[in-house]
Amino acid sequence: MIVESSLTETRRIVRAARGRGVLIGCIPTMGALHQGHVSLIEVAQWECGFNVATIFVNPTQFGPHEDFTRYPRTLDADVEMCRAAGADLIFTPPVSAMYAESAQTIVRVGGLAEVLEGSHRPGHFDGVSTVVAKFFHIIEPDRAYFGQKDFQQQLIIRQMVADLDLPVEIMTCPIIREADGLAMSSRNRYLSVAERQQASQLFQTLLLAEKLAAESTLTPPEISRQMADHLSSVAGIEVQYAVIADAVTLKLLQHRSNPAVALLAVKVGSTRLIDNQILRFR
Ligand code: PAJ
Repeated sequence: MIVESSLTETRRIVRAARGRGVLIGCIPTMGALHQGHVSLIEVAQWECGFNVATIFVNPTQFGPHEDFTRYPRTLDADVEMCRAAGADLIFTPPVSAMYAESAQTIVRVGGLAEVLEGSHRPGHFDGVSTVVAKFFHIIEPDRAYFGQKDFQQQLIIRQMVADLDLPVEIMTCPIIREADGLAMSSRNRYLSVAERQQASQLFQTLLLAEKLAAESTLTPPEISRQMADHLSSVAGIEVQYAVIADAVTLKLLQHRSNPAVALLAVKVGSTRLIDNQILRFR
């Protein structure tokens, strides 16, 4: 496995691999890898002959009061996890190589990026779509692997790829969870022992939504209310949103219809966590 920080060298190595006739997979990450990331690399490794994991804590997707400087950076451990999962190349550029002082271009997705995470984290998705577009141009992958964990993010990337005619297939992989249901996240390591316990109620809330969708006749707004009530009843949790939306358009659902997704964002202490679950209305 190669660890490479140069754009031109990465492009050269990947093009040489493509010349051997194999599919190129790309797994964009910000490092601080866990089993969620590993699962994406493993799927890529089954499907593609040459796989590039990117490790880049992307400054442009962090708001001014967010955790860019304290975001965990664990490159040595990440390299070992990528190697074990079967990545062929890690692309880990310095910020200066990705963003010239003189840069003037951003990639901005419209409607889908303006709701939910977009309205709570202004500018966040501009940073995400711009950096992912840049990775796609540097690596030119056939397939790129994203987690359902960031449900809105994978929809936005799909929209960007369609709108810009990028020749890459977007694959969305299941959420990997801890034993008590908490979705794995690089940010979980910020949680104290007490907060870690409170955070397990996110998954319980999604199970509640799943049950109410399957077994009750409640409408999506009524189920959303129960989700918010359940979360608010946990000391230490501040609800940012708990909604049921169309799983393609992200428009809030008023009536029981599919495809549907329950999405939530909370703060546990000072740590912001998100999670989601596909629902099936009968
Ligand atoms: P990061 O948070 O490091 O996540 C990298 C990828 O891993 C994303 O596609 C995310 O959805 C996926 N992932 C995270 N936790 C997961 C879990 N528990 N189960 C399954 N997949 C999981 O998302 C980003 O980085 C950045 O926004 C990025 C796309 C790299 C652009 O900078």
